[in-house]
Amino acid sequence: MRNDVIAFAPGRVNLIGEHTDYNYGLALPFAISEGVTVRAKPGRAGWIDAHAVDLDSHDSFSLDAPAGAQGWRAFARGAAAELQAAGYRLTGSQLRISGTVPRGSGLSSSAALEVALCLALLAVAETAVPDRIVLAQICSKVENDWVGARTGLLDQLASLCGERDHALRIDFRSLEVSPVDLELGGYTLVTLDSGQRHANAGPGEGADEGYNQRRSECARACELLGLESLRDATLDGAAGLPAPLAARVRHVVTENERVEQTVAALAAGDLPRVGELLDASHASLRDDFEISTPAVEATVQRRRAAGVTGARIVGGGFGGHVLGLLPPGTPAPADAVKVAPGPGAHLLS
Ligand code: GLA
Repeated sequence: MRNDVIAFAPGRVNLIGEHTDYNYGLALPFAISEGVTVRAKPGRAGWIDAHAVDLDSHDSFSLDAPAGAQGWRAFARGAAAELQAAGYRLTGSQLRISGTVPRGSGLSSSAALEVALCLALLAVAETAVPDRIVLAQICSKVENDWVGARTGLLDQLASLCGERDHALRIDFRSLEVSPVDLELGGYTLVTLDSGQRHANAGPGEGADEGYNQRRSECARACELLGLESLRDATLDGAAGLPAPLAARVRHVVTENERVEQTVAALAAGDLPRVGELLDASHASLRDDFEISTPAVEATVQRRRAAGVTGARIVGGGFGGHVLGLLPPGTPAPADAVKVAPGPGAHLLS
């Protein structure tokens, strides 16, 4: 058994490709330097004793049969249960969890927590870490089945596969992850907090629960179109659907195209074009996918007034952060945070 381990997992910014992951589409996220750190050491045999430092909150549960819980405890119990269910041996451990990603911000605090917990639990038990795609799927199960958010694999893959100076083009049908050079030629990417928090869990009514509702709408559109996923949907097909499904499908089809166009614009060093694509993505998320809010719109407008080349909401929507692309020489607004691609999840000790 290892004595003391420290696992770090980053949050992520999604450059473009929003609400495409669970539709087997494309996205272009990158890992950021903010994240969750879990220190682990051997503990009572058969038990996990966990302390969430920022919340000053404790949990203890038996590894034999972790039961459901709310909040951060659902992540800890779910991580332990799902790793064991997938055949990975764990041992009694003490965990100390702390983080720097604001919760509900659209920067993926949830995936950072799941991934850091799994890496720490495996490391302290000296159990080999699964392939990163398999681990992303285990983490996603924690979020789907223990936390109640029917999210896709975007955040977990970005946190696990992040690479310094690169975004990741992810194809969610083949699960192929390809690094894309994020050469910004003097431009900078910044995030700005809309001040509005959100949760992705919930049955589908009200602002906090819109994420699962959108997912259900996409599933219904697939049924009506006779498709396995919206990856194969077309604009013509979308046009025949009832409202609001036609608009939801239109977003997914055009957003997949924007991901490919962004990859091409980056390769050509055409940053003004990247900015246009970010704006187009935001318009589609606001008008067709309807996941923006007045607080987010006000934040986007402030970005535009500050001279950004492009700005859009990031993450699941209904609040959270706005991403902006600033041209060379434009000072970042005081409340903006500069973001750059960093390494994926790893052990610090
Ligand atoms: C959240 C989910 C992801 C993805 C995005 C929207 O971050 O966790 O799986 O669906 O929203 O792109």
